[in-house]
Amino acid sequence: MKKKLEGQIAIVTGASSGIGAGCAKELAKNGATVVLNYPFEGAKEAAEQVVAEIIEEGGIASSSQCDVSKEADVIAMFADTVAKYGTVDILINNAGLQKDAKFTEMTLDQWNTVIGINLTGQFLCAREAIKEFLRRGVVEGVSKSAGKIICMSSVHEVIPWAGHANYAASKGGVMLMMKTIAQEFAPKKIRVNSICPGAIATPINHDAWDTPSHLEKLLTLIPEKRIGLPEDIGKAAVWLCSDDSDYVNGTSLFVDGGMTLYPGFEGNG
Ligand code: BGC
Repeated sequence: MKKKLEGQIAIVTGASSGIGAGCAKELAKNGATVVLNYPFEGAKEAAEQVVAEIIEEGGIASSSQCDVSKEADVIAMFADTVAKYGTVDILINNAGLQKDAKFTEMTLDQWNTVIGINLTGQFLCAREAIKEFLRRGVVEGVSKSAGKIICMSSVHEVIPWAGHANYAASKGGVMLMMKTIAQEFAPKKIRVNSICPGAIATPINHDAWDTPSHLEKLLTLIPEKRIGLPEDIGKAAVWLCSDDSDYVNGTSLFVDGGMTLYPGFEGNG
């Protein structure tokens, strides 16, 4: 039986660890050829490790270094991918980071770094992906869409987060960028959606779950009473990239164990 994403080429940004690595593995399991982007030389080994795991399980993958906040790097990554594999069908716009600080202590550098990677990086990658989707158009037998983009947002596109103004602003920006691109390109059979993860056990939030007392505190915010796993997000990404979700466009899909359900009201309010 044909796998859901067979014959499709996917670029996953920030795929050397965490949610990006989880998405890359699930996409590959479902037949996609995956390019795992990593940001700098120091992350190469980790990215190569994920590539090796995918290949060992019979998948097709390779790695590509690029700082998504740098226009020339992003253009080169897409050009290299098209040269190597022929096209790009899927972009998982995932690369992101936190530089937390109290608002009055936040430096301009902390602000610019987070907006640069989390928002400008998603803009640059989406722009190159859409140019390629428009060039190629729909290919019958591959997908009903000319291309799919998943923007990795966060529950913090709607939940304000004291001490993380740069991060929350970046994700709020991702929400309306995603919806605007979806509106602009739906007539061209391009689908753009977001996944909004809650607390997923990855290096980005290690301090929130690394000790039993930290974890206990975190679980008070999650009605399902468990921390999420990268594969929870990877599986949602596979669905959002497949033709099973062909009529889903411009949507934020919350994958958060109920974190956005006002858990403070679980009792009697
Ligand atoms: C953040 C994590 C945090 C989670 C829930 C994510 O977007 O990157 O650090 O644990 O939101 O608050």
